[in-house]
Amino acid sequence: MNIIKADETYIAKTYARAPFLAESGHGARIIDAEGKEYIDLGSGIGVNVFGACDPPWIAAVEAQLHKLQHLSNLYYTAPQAELAEMLCMRTGFKKIFFANSGAEANECAIKSVRKYSNEKYAPGRSTIITLENSFHGRTMATLSATGQTDMHVHFGPFLNGFKYAPANDFATLKTLCDGTICAIMLELIQGESGVNPLDENYVKQIAEFCQEQDILLIIDEVQTGNGRTGSLYAYQHYGIMPDLITTAKGLAGGLPLGCAMLGEKLSNTLTPGSHGSTFGGNPIAAAGAISILSRLDEPLFAEVKRKGNYIRAQLTDAKGIKNITGIGLMLGIETEKDAKFLSLECLKHGIIVLTAKNKLRLLPPLNISDKELAIAMQILKGVLAE
Ligand SMILES: Cc1ncc(COP(=O)(O)O)c(C=O)c1O
Repeated sequence: MNIIKADETYIAKTYARAPFLAESGHGARIIDAEGKEYIDLGSGIGVNVFGACDPPWIAAVEAQLHKLQHLSNLYYTAPQAELAEMLCMRTGFKKIFFANSGAEANECAIKSVRKYSNEKYAPGRSTIITLENSFHGRTMATLSATGQTDMHVHFGPFLNGFKYAPANDFATLKTLCDGTICAIMLELIQGESGVNPLDENYVKQIAEFCQEQDILLIIDEVQTGNGRTGSLYAYQHYGIMPDLITTAKGLAGGLPLGCAMLGEKLSNTLTPGSHGSTFGGNPIAAAGAISILSRLDEPLFAEVKRKGNYIRAQLTDAKGIKNITGIGLMLGIETEKDAKFLSLECLKHGIIVLTAKNKLRLLPPLNISDKELAIAMQILKGVLAE
């Protein structure tokens, strides 16, 4: 079978695929169909937290596969309860809703804050402020929340009840708060639009304002979560406690799992029948997530920071680079040449590098070795200098 031909013929063209047919992998190495090995600086898009075919994760997933692959959410299963307890204990959130993806986790967030506000105030208090250049998913509600007009072409009409504010401008955000606002939703590092962290002071001002006004603060940690920035969740760097965070991507280390974590105010908002999912919190995905989460500890976070600093030190002042942004192992590199072109050149030279808008984006497995990083940096610097 010609896989690329079959893919091009039968799969909807929603992805501009790179000319690369992956076959297998181990750790931060991915092997293509011809047996050529690549160093992976993308881990999917921040999904394979401990790289490809991570042995403890395989063991945890396999053990659950032999017990039970699925049961309706109308019954109790151990991995889901165990994972929810771990997440609450590690964060201080009170309740978890499990979904299958980032967009679905954000759907839950949108419904939860609206229900809270509708019940406590009036149905009109249901607008959510998000930021310009944000990305919250591709379902209709999360696309409505996404503050990128170019992504809105073709898909209207959109959901009412979203307003977009420019990032890092607290005065303008405040002027949008007219009594109809139930929540503010932020990515602390805008990932898809170029790995741009929000200013700490701006985030703290918003958190304080939300507290005063009983406006709920949602932090979208779909990309920043699960150790990626050198803390379990990125909000922990900012010294705030949101009312709700969402996460997905790395949560189950490569299996589809997302969740919304609900704080004190929202802990009783979701009631039977108000929300649900057939697969959300599936036992196999939950078992994978327990294996990942149990290894996301302080020594690992210190390593993430150290490796992030190493990459920065290697690339700062390197030829062809204008600027580096990001935290931990979530890095954006502004380059002199076109980022898409450079990512394809990287592939030819044996490293997998992502892009985000006009930047290269690095989201390597958190356990990438120093040797692999050193080789990858040599290759990347070579490509950038060409
Ligand atoms: C911040 C953020 N939110 C939401 C999503 C959507 O996640 P998913 O593709 O799992 O639906 C993404 C995906 O890139 C993301 O980066």
